[in-house]
Amino acid sequence: MYDETVAVVENRPLTGGHFVLSLDSARQAQATRPGQFAMVRLLGRSDVLLRRPMSIYNVASAVAPPLRAATDAATLVQDAAMNPRTTKQDAALKAAATKPAIVQLLYKVVGRGTRLMAELKPGDYVGLLAPLGHGFFQDEYLDRAKAADEILHVAGGIGIAALLLPARQLAAGGFHQRLFFGGRTQDDLVGVDEFAASVSEVVLATEDGSHGHGGYVTRPLEEYLSRNSGKNFLMMVCGPWAMLEASVKLARRYGHACLVSMENRMGCGLGVCLGCCIHVNGTGHGTYERVCTEGPVFWAEKVVWGDKS
Ligand SMILES: Cc1cc2nc3c(=O)[nH]c(=O)nc-3n(C[C@H](O)[C@H](O)[C@H](O)COP(=O)(O)OP(=O)(O)OC[C@H]3O[C@@H](n4cnc5c(N)ncnc54)[C@H](O)[C@@H]3O)c2cc1C
Ligand code: FES
Repeated sequence: MYDETVAVVENRPLTGGHFVLSLDSARQAQATRPGQFAMVRLLGRSDVLLRRPMSIYNVASAVAPPLRAATDAATLVQDAAMNPRTTKQDAALKAAATKPAIVQLLYKVVGRGTRLMAELKPGDYVGLLAPLGHGFFQDEYLDRAKAADEILHVAGGIGIAALLLPARQLAAGGFHQRLFFGGRTQDDLVGVDEFAASVSEVVLATEDGSHGHGGYVTRPLEEYLSRNSGKNFLMMVCGPWAMLEASVKLARRYGHACLVSMENRMGCGLGVCLGCCIHVNGTGHGTYERVCTEGPVFWAEKVVWGDKS
């Protein structure tokens, strides 16, 4: 983990108050494992003292131009389905050939800190503490992925930001993957183009019915699980608490392994303040673990659901 002052390379606006912030930081980009996060400090702002936690969305060797439109996602999915080996090998070869130097964060403006982030321009500086947390890749997790017929990524809103790097790494390893992604409206469905090359299908849902299935993403997810009850899935879920809980219930009902990436409020991000603790199963009255240090990724059965403390 490095505590650095890094330059903004780009702060690209997307739909619905979302942005991709690209930061020039080779050491942090190269140290990042999928599922880890960063703490962003806005410099020179005495009114925003605490750093803001953000998933490390992507690491890149350079800032790529944006894909043309949502139709590109469909083309990429089609290409991947028709010629999966070429697409995956291409991605793996590209990744190996160039060392990443840019850390990318995908964020949504929700309050004062993220509003100020949205004003950042190329050449501005921010404090970046990263990479933090243990992320997705442990031996136990990879063993479960190998045992699964398919990996199901389930994202709610900005939760998509935690899943792109794991999906890319798994795609390079030849794993079959599918994305279920839900938002309030169509404008929340950001980052689909980037995800599409790693998965065989993208299933979208919006609460207002403006795109894809109407309602919560857990509905098409449940339909898929019930249609494929003979299969063995590994689910990887990131989103708001209620959506995590609903997905975990489905995983339990259909008997699938499930990992959750949690986004609790955080003070320090370093395991010191205990502000991010969640209740987990343990001996006696149970125990608490820090999302920033023991997480942000947990096996679903470890977490005591129905208890936000
Ligand atoms: C490990 C981790 C990874 C995260 N990854 C991302 C990411 O990739 N992209 C992204 O946009 N956001 C992410 N978040 C949430 C992000 O940290 C908050 O949205 C941000 O700190 C809000 O700051 P603010 O000053 O704009 O809002 P504040 O003024 O602090 O709060 C405004 C609103 O945002 C809500 N909020 C604040 N913090 C959180 C939080 N941690 N989780 C959920 N809601 C919150 C508040 O309840 C309030 O309604 C992540 C959080 C964690 C813990
Ligand atoms: S945020 Fe301080 S201990 Fe986790």
